[in-house]
Amino acid sequence: MIIAVDGPTASGKGTIAKQLAAHFGVPHLDTGLLYRAVGQQVALGGGDPDREADALSACAFPDALLADPILRSEEVGGLASRVSVHPAVRAALFERQRAFAEQPGGAVLDGRDIGTVIAPDADVKLFITASVQERARRRWLEMTSAHIGREDEIPLAEIEKDIVRRDARDINRADAPLKAAPDAMVIDTTRFGKEEAFETVLEAVEEKLRG
Ligand code: DC
Repeated sequence: MIIAVDGPTASGKGTIAKQLAAHFGVPHLDTGLLYRAVGQQVALGGGDPDREADALSACAFPDALLADPILRSEEVGGLASRVSVHPAVRAALFERQRAFAEQPGGAVLDGRDIGTVIAPDADVKLFITASVQERARRRWLEMTSAHIGREDEIPLAEIEKDIVRRDARDINRADAPLKAAPDAMVIDTTRFGKEEAFETVLEAVEEKLRG
């Protein structure tokens, strides 16, 4: 059983994917981490994330890097979005994701193109979304509660602008842009708390699996 969870940044798709994996007892891959690892490696090596050759040469990173908390920073997220526009980077990361999806017991993968490119054969496809304002508010809460900065150092408006910029890059790239697969269930979590969001998703998934 493959469950594909796609959606824009800060939509809650990562949390939902993790919860689904725990619920069904299958492994979970946050595919954004792969692009984040490439972005971080390019920057560390002094390369240019907008140059395809530089980004491609950073694709052979060790799996251990994926556990590094630095990958989850906003800065690395921006680098990830930039390296992810290059078709050669997407091709280089394809096999790793596909192999994960094909594990015998099944898997949950979250990202931008899981239902469209990595696992078009997924048993369940979800597209999780929420309004830009709500996603910015959630990201802001996450950042302030993690003490990444003081409240007055992270203006909500800046976070919102960054989300809009990231969405535009992810949606408008030519190769594997962010979009819901035609057969995906689109779930808008703007008005839901975390628990309600998961309950709604789980109900939809179980109904889909019942056929
Ligand atoms: O989900 P995230 O914020 O960790 O993703 C970071 C960037 O990586 C995102 O802006 C676009 C890219 N990405 C992608 O192109 N395809 C994926 N399957 C996952 C992430």
